[in-house]
Amino acid sequence: MDTAYHGDPRKYDRTRGLPPAVQEAIVVALADALPAGARVLDLGAGSGRFALPLAAQGFRVVAADLSAAMLAHLRAKQPAGAIFPAPVQADACRLPFRGAAFPAAFSVHTLHLVADLNAAVAEIARVVQPGGVFALGYIDHDPAAPIGWTLHAWREALARRGYDLSRPMWRDYTEVAALLARRFGAPHTRVAARWPGQISPAAALQSVSERLFTPYWGLPDDKHAAVVAELRRAARRAFGDDLHAPRPDPRRFVWHGYQSVPVQREMEKRA
Ligand SMILES: C[S@@+](CC[C@H](N)C(=O)[O-])C[C@H]1O[C@@H](n2cnc3c(N)ncnc32)[C@H](O)[C@@H]1O
Repeated sequence: MDTAYHGDPRKYDRTRGLPPAVQEAIVVALADALPAGARVLDLGAGSGRFALPLAAQGFRVVAADLSAAMLAHLRAKQPAGAIFPAPVQADACRLPFRGAAFPAAFSVHTLHLVADLNAAVAEIARVVQPGGVFALGYIDHDPAAPIGWTLHAWREALARRGYDLSRPMWRDYTEVAALLARRFGAPHTRVAARWPGQISPAAALQSVSERLFTPYWGLPDDKHAAVVAELRRAARRAFGDDLHAPRPDPRRFVWHGYQSVPVQREMEKRA
């Protein structure tokens, strides 16, 4: 299954940009959890939203992604002569790195996409050194505000139609986090940033209709259009008739930090 990003990387950057102070707080929180200057794997680095600022802080970031176009765009944004982030085209489910190659790794908005989540988690456990850190990061939306409400309504509509919400693109971060916790133990969770977005329900619905974000990929056009129409009716019930009025849409960025299981503990678990 090809889960690489096939859109225009410049459009990706335009639509996923974060306020500079938020971006900085997210990277600072990540850097705090990593050994200074360490070799760090960014799994699903995309166009370098986090790999680039982390490398600018002196970390030797390896930027792995399935999409050659996203990595080319990352490369184009690198300062002239910079070695890091080092782009590597790779599948998270079959990483081209030796065991224990990294003291730390992280991934943002990628593990919900991969074709085989169990394989990707096993690969993370293999390439991160025993006792090392793996950080899972994602943006969390208020479920009562337009973006979060829309995402929940989309998932409920799919569930009612009998679709499997654990398949790639539709699985959510609670499932990814639960699987990581089963493998590595409970994470240390840190809310790195909170910020006050604003968007109208109509604009949130438009992002569904345009399939702007990955959870909205995967349905054939006719079925997609039927779900969008259903969401529009439900949005009127939830928000009233004026769907174009902007509303507060608070967001937060969460890091879950997992510690890779030392070999000794792993052997004890198997005994
Ligand atoms: C939503 S983007 C996130 C990019 C970046 N982490 C960020 O937060 O901006 C997801 C990225 O995961 C990549 N991807 C999808 N499946 C992958 C896989 N199996 N292995 C590696 N990368 C993958 C896509 O090509 C895309 O660049």
